[in-house]
Amino acid sequence: MTPSKLKDFHDRLAADDDGFWLEEAHKRLDWIDPPTTAGDWSFDEDDFHIRWFADGTLNLSANCIDRHLDTRGDQAAIVFEGDEPGEGYEVSYRTLHEEVCRFANVLKSRGVKKGDRVTIYMPMIPEAAYAMLACARIGAIHSVVFGGFSPDSLSGRITDCESTVLVTADSGSRGGKHIPLKANADTALEHCPDVHSVILVRRTGDEIPVVEGRDIWWHDVRDTVDADCPPEPMAAEDPLFILYTSGSTGKPKGVLHTTGGYLLWVTMTYDMLFGPEDGGKVEDDLFWCTADVGWITGHSYVVSGPLSNGATTVMFDGVPNYPDPGRFWETSKRLGVTIFYTAPTAIRALMREGDDWVTKHDRSQLRLLGTVGEPINPEAWNWYSNVVGEGRCPVVDTWWQTETGGVLIAPVPGAVETKPGSATRPLPGVHPQLVDSEGKVLEGAAEGNLCITASWPGQMRTVYGDHERFFQTYFSTYPGKYFTGDGCRRDEDGYYWITGRVDDVINVSGHRMGTAEVESALVAHPKVAEAAVVGMPHELKGQGIYAYVTLNAGEADSDGLREELRQWVRKEIGPIATPDALQFAPALPKTRSGKIMRRILRKIAEGQPDQVGDTSTLADPAVVEDLKRNALV
Ligand code: PRX
Repeated sequence: MTPSKLKDFHDRLAADDDGFWLEEAHKRLDWIDPPTTAGDWSFDEDDFHIRWFADGTLNLSANCIDRHLDTRGDQAAIVFEGDEPGEGYEVSYRTLHEEVCRFANVLKSRGVKKGDRVTIYMPMIPEAAYAMLACARIGAIHSVVFGGFSPDSLSGRITDCESTVLVTADSGSRGGKHIPLKANADTALEHCPDVHSVILVRRTGDEIPVVEGRDIWWHDVRDTVDADCPPEPMAAEDPLFILYTSGSTGKPKGVLHTTGGYLLWVTMTYDMLFGPEDGGKVEDDLFWCTADVGWITGHSYVVSGPLSNGATTVMFDGVPNYPDPGRFWETSKRLGVTIFYTAPTAIRALMREGDDWVTKHDRSQLRLLGTVGEPINPEAWNWYSNVVGEGRCPVVDTWWQTETGGVLIAPVPGAVETKPGSATRPLPGVHPQLVDSEGKVLEGAAEGNLCITASWPGQMRTVYGDHERFFQTYFSTYPGKYFTGDGCRRDEDGYYWITGRVDDVINVSGHRMGTAEVESALVAHPKVAEAAVVGMPHELKGQGIYAYVTLNAGEADSDGLREELRQWVRKEIGPIATPDALQFAPALPKTRSGKIMRRILRKIAEGQPDQVGDTSTLADPAVVEDLKRNALV
């Protein structure tokens, strides 16, 4: 986009923001009833509400599929690339339409109606997208659970949103290893008596038990239902999906997004950041976002954003280093990928393997590179830009969150100059503000806590089943503002540099993990009395998980028990939650009122034991000496 075109967006917003949003909504989406109102919101406690385009009706799947059939029915909508290089196929928009309609009709045949919740626990295969779009088509609310989560995590999420239907596969295949999805699902479902139907997709062909009456194979029922399913008219504010994400306290929250605002936000941000250059055509690009549909990035920029724009999107069911660290670039070349979007953790891991794995594959077809999920260090940014992108491709560092639906801060290619390590400037319609810990607004170059002062269409609407928690988590710390939980620096050019979470959330390889979740998994072990978990710097993952564990009286620590506890957490939550370091501590540092002083634990885990600061308020300051002596870093 040219700088003047971007300026035009800002000017139109400044002149009439409601008019701007209505115009964009009408132009970019197909409505059944076009809306006549745009934003209607207040972040104040006594009048708290968020609505966008409230009198409009539309259907997301019709926007992502049906409206393209006349012009791009034969164009690939999805290019699937499996775990083994070259194991894949293309799905045209016409085929996507048929598959999604059939999937929708299968869901209907199992009694799924508008507003019902459907849980999806799948590999990165096109059927995962069919299931998501099929839900949207009939107005069911999907909750995708990442395939790397444990049976316990899955059952907790199914129970929280009261799903009665689960979509899963026999097993997944990642880096040559099989992931027993159906076996995990069966274990989870022992605690979910209300799930009456499991739709099973065959992925690996692994032998699995099938429960008569409850489980049905997709390939058995696919042809028994109609190939057409009319899209359900949905009010813009009807719920679209729930996605669980970790917070600083308690169990993961079900972030709820609604239909119209979310779809406009992902459609518009995809176009601004990854759409064709002026005069170009969307079909000339092949877009590859490497995220899994189990995370928000997969929802917004593997499925809805690209498809709503009529683009071709890659679904990749593998890992960056299988069969070798050249996989991304070999596959990009073979498929003809022009836009590539991944996480800093993957870039750092590949950077370590050396440039040859990159340079041996021709990358001249790449034109744009993106990153998401965690702060990118300038060294990794420069390597991505210079080695992968040959200095030719703009690097688009996109800052956003599950809660924000789509990107909020990022350089619009062609219009905003980049700086290595900065997500640069807010997109049109996004109003960031930095505040200090007392809530005082910081102007100009400053560092503080990142808030957003005005609603945008893609904002989450509630925590499923707990609206009060939604308000308390995001709007009570700094009244009248949405608090992101991130720290941030703004430089003298007005560029934003995200410094990481300021709450008790750890960002492990771009994935959010709540310290409270890991702690509760640890204390569930019969030998553990108490646990405290903090983040630690990690060369590849960005942050690693550092756990302090106090055993029950009479239990002896050992390397064997340390490993047992690490595996315990892995089994309880999933591999991404496995502690990187686990220190046995006879006691944790507590204030006289019994509160754990995490500041001290963090400093020790960061390898800065001399900076723990004042310990005089501790009930027993001697505890700190033991912690320092036995530190693992
Ligand atoms: O701390 C920020 C970090 O990831 C958090 C959001 O995590 P999640 O909801 O899982 O969504 C990840 C994908 C959008 C944020 O609060 N984060 C995300 N993108 C960036 C980032 N930190 C720095 N730079 C980014 N580009």
